[in-house]
Amino acid sequence: MGLVTPIVGVANYLVENPWILALLFLLYCFIYALSIMFSGPKPGRNPFSTKHVRPAKPVITDQSLRNKILKQRFKAQKVPDNIDTIVIGSGMSGLSTAVILGRAGYKVLVLEQHDQAGGCCHTFIDKGFEFDTGIHYIGKMMDGDMTRVLTDQMTEGQVTWCPMDPEFDIVAIGDPEKARKYTMLSGGKDKFAKHLEEYFPSEKVAIGKLMKALEEGKGAFWGVLIPKILPLWLSKIAIKTGIYHLVMRKFIKMSTKTFRSFLDDITDNEEFKAVIGYIFGDMGVVPSELSVLTYSTLINHYIPGAYYPVGGSSEIAFQMIPIIERYGGRVLVDAPISEILVNDKGRAHGVRVRRNNVDTDLFARRIISSAGVINTFKYLLPQEIAVKSPLHRYITEIGPSIGCLTTFVGIDGNSAELGLPKANMWAFLNVDYERDLEEYKNLTPDEASERECPLMFLSFPSAKDPTWEEKFPGKSVVLLITLCPWEWFKSWENGRVKHRGDDYNTIKERIGRQMWRQCEQLFPAVEGRLEYMDVGTPLSNKYYLGQPEGEMYGMNHSMNRFDPELSMYLRPQTGIPGLYLTGQDVLTASFSGAMHSGLLTASAILHRNLFNDLIALTKETRKLNKDPAAKKTD
Ligand SMILES: Cc1cc2nc3c(=O)[nH]c(=O)nc-3n(C[C@H](O)[C@H](O)[C@H](O)COP(=O)(O)OP(=O)(O)OC[C@H]3O[C@@H](n4cnc5c(N)ncnc54)[C@H](O)[C@@H]3O)c2cc1C
Ligand SMILES: *[C@@H]1O[C@H](CO)[C@@H](O)[C@H](O)[C@H]1NC(C)=O
Repeated sequence: MGLVTPIVGVANYLVENPWILALLFLLYCFIYALSIMFSGPKPGRNPFSTKHVRPAKPVITDQSLRNKILKQRFKAQKVPDNIDTIVIGSGMSGLSTAVILGRAGYKVLVLEQHDQAGGCCHTFIDKGFEFDTGIHYIGKMMDGDMTRVLTDQMTEGQVTWCPMDPEFDIVAIGDPEKARKYTMLSGGKDKFAKHLEEYFPSEKVAIGKLMKALEEGKGAFWGVLIPKILPLWLSKIAIKTGIYHLVMRKFIKMSTKTFRSFLDDITDNEEFKAVIGYIFGDMGVVPSELSVLTYSTLINHYIPGAYYPVGGSSEIAFQMIPIIERYGGRVLVDAPISEILVNDKGRAHGVRVRRNNVDTDLFARRIISSAGVINTFKYLLPQEIAVKSPLHRYITEIGPSIGCLTTFVGIDGNSAELGLPKANMWAFLNVDYERDLEEYKNLTPDEASERECPLMFLSFPSAKDPTWEEKFPGKSVVLLITLCPWEWFKSWENGRVKHRGDDYNTIKERIGRQMWRQCEQLFPAVEGRLEYMDVGTPLSNKYYLGQPEGEMYGMNHSMNRFDPELSMYLRPQTGIPGLYLTGQDVLTASFSGAMHSGLLTASAILHRNLFNDLIALTKETRKLNKDPAAKKTD
């Protein structure tokens, strides 16, 4: 009796709480999977070491020296012998994968279609002004943070990170001449919450609920990662049997609820909702189409503090390329891939570079595409092979994210004297910006050019970069960005870049002028100081970033984007032997998402869980930060 009772008790308890069994089962699967992962092919060597990080040298501002690294034009003779890996695309994800694989002993060739390396991290200089394209702020760059530790491995510590203003984002609502302004304060959750309470004292309870959701969101992104890390068959079992949903309840709850409905649950205050939801533009989907999970991942990224790379975002590729070269690799630009070559055994074994109607075929043991899932499966792979992939159906089901229209403005006067902030501004005309945007999207570009722009993101790279004044004394730049549907400019798609015709130029410039007028109202100090203006449309994104419909963030980050089944298929392994994926589609848009996708892809190739290596390295780095004398360098 004495023994049986507790056993029966435990058995009863298990019957009443089946999730415990499920949890045990999943745990077992997980351990089993890990053992398989590491008992398969011999894992590659650990590419990480605190020794790779050296004190940063001063930023090189000589443009011709920079171009020697960033603009190495493709020529077949420049391809090193014995390349074993070809990466398509030189954005953060492609370069990250290449650096890690290089350190693990691989010889990697990165091929970029644009005339300079960097993808969304590239900058361009025109008439004495330098402009960023896709990096305005990056979170988690404090010393000792895991993301920073990984970034330092990628750049050997040669990119330094300048903190932006503690008020990293400014939200402006209403008529630009007398907009109501709110700032987002970094420095941790408590500061952030207290600062919000100062604007909205009556929303204390709602703010508390928001903070609780953000706290829950912290670990929840593992729900996206785990189905990619586990072997496909195991992820399938866990998801199909419902075990995954049971164990990952918190993740499921957050990824299936829209942020808009969360806000509606916690308050009726529309001004408050508008202010809190402001950051949706970073993912390109409005709060009623954005999950609580995506929202919290995003805002949690910036709450500790926002940073900007010293020297501008081109520093990132500029520092990573020499590392890839040191390990025998190369990064060549002006090398558009027209096709991934697949042999008769169904193995991806090469790429075709097509320039001025001359084809060059290059072969390697493995091909990694960072050009995005839509590019890879719709345009680069032979279609008879692409349609067999489970990812193929998501190309239409999820589709691309929205495009953007960017007005690049060069200003006479330095940022400090003009009072330009080391921060971004999100300017909305109304509290109901969702309705405004829907209306705006449905206008023709002609009509839009006569309206005020309902959402404008303002970024001031010249204020954020401490080396700017030395490079461009007495000048400033501002980028004015709004969301813009592909359809607006689609009809000019077949024109040549810079020669798409007067009507194209006139319309985009009229929209640009309108945005500039709103900028002058928001920042009266810049009034009448415009020296340079150019406007980029989704067609520019297509041309410079290789995105088929000018999309900003790869695939659409709508509600179904983090569905477990899709997450499972959006993994480095494509099911096509020899072909891997990396990039924002594999994880999520953002600098950090792209970099971590490189980690994921290199893990798959090296048969090594690099996330574990990174966790160990982070611990070691934190110890060294406390006791720098213990550090050995090589
Ligand atoms: C306007 C804008 C603002 C942003 N702001 C921020 C921000 O402030 N903070 C942040 O963290 N993130 C921001 N992002 C997102 C972030 O920049 C991206 O998510 C990330 O850099 C994507 O990296 P990636 O390597 O996946 O893709 P990319 O950087 O796009 O790299 C892919 C590369 O592949 C190349 N390519 C495509 N097709 C081919 C082909 N056929 N042959 C050869 N090469 C090809 C492309 O030219 C490109 O260089 C922003 C994005 C945009 C567009
Ligand atoms: C992204 O998905 C949302 C929700 O399904 C949809 O409303 C939006 O139009 C999509 N974006 C694009 C550019 O297709």
